[in-house]
Amino acid sequence: MRIAVFPVAGLGTRFLPATKTVPKEMLPIVDKPLIQYAVDEAIEAGCDTLVFITNRYKHAVADYFDKAYELEQKLERAGKAEQLALVRNVLPEGVRAVFVTQAEALGLGHAVLCAKPVVGNEPFAVLLPDDLIWSRGDGALKQMADHAQRTGGSAIAVQDVPRAQTGSYGIVATDSFDGQAGRIRQIVEKPKPADAPSNLAVVGRYILNPAIFDLLETTQQGAGGEIQLTDAIAQLLPLEQVDAFRFHGTRFDCGTHLGLIEATVRYALDHELLSDAARKLMQNALDEMGVVEN
Ligand code: UTP
Repeated sequence: MRIAVFPVAGLGTRFLPATKTVPKEMLPIVDKPLIQYAVDEAIEAGCDTLVFITNRYKHAVADYFDKAYELEQKLERAGKAEQLALVRNVLPEGVRAVFVTQAEALGLGHAVLCAKPVVGNEPFAVLLPDDLIWSRGDGALKQMADHAQRTGGSAIAVQDVPRAQTGSYGIVATDSFDGQAGRIRQIVEKPKPADAPSNLAVVGRYILNPAIFDLLETTQQGAGGEIQLTDAIAQLLPLEQVDAFRFHGTRFDCGTHLGLIEATVRYALDHELLSDAARKLMQNALDEMGVVEN
């Protein structure tokens, strides 16, 4: 698997007014934008072709991955080797970026379909950058790629969620789940807790066989009037093995205010240079605002 698709053409309404001009994927967690974390995860998993599904409001994403000649020259002349490496490594050598326009935000399934001319007839990954996955060992996509290589099928990242929250996720039912993976028998978008077939929720990492494209071509509008990737995956289930894969790592839903705050706190506390100072300032904030620990 060498191709990773990043659907970033959503409207990002939950972060207005910030997302009026700054794409959600460019919001930073400490020192890197969300999209960079997802790109690094894809490259670690072996991808060398990154396909960004964007729209006319998301120039900042393309600009970010473009070469910054002036900045690089200035840093080079000033002997700032460390910063220069940071700027250059946004896209390491040998990795290429392709940008495809989704003219209208018709849904995640439609965004993935837009990648078809670039992906062709190969298995590919889909990463939703607002699902940020922190992991000490292999990244989530690398874990999934290793699994999919063994099975030859598709794989979808899942995590356990409280039953009360099933209405916010795609939920899967599996055959013979062994604690880490199991073949998906059923997938439902945003079921009510009483109707949910399990509490295994889909997270924004997928490894898909190209058969999904033919199904997406005919997928009708589903939940929320959008062309849903979940609906096409549901049609793939009887045709091919699609596994749910419970990855090692912590996922932050950076598509929500609290998720973005939580990720910022965790990454700051884990940062090699900032960790001590971050801990102190968080403690000070709690003390000064009169928040008492239990
Ligand atoms: P979300 O459901 O998070 O929607 O999309 P959104 O528009 O980004 O954000 P809110 O809900 O308005 O705040 C899930 C993923 O699918 C992409 C989004 O960019 C995000 O990565 N997407 C969604 C598309 O690329 N195109 C679409 O038509 C819809």
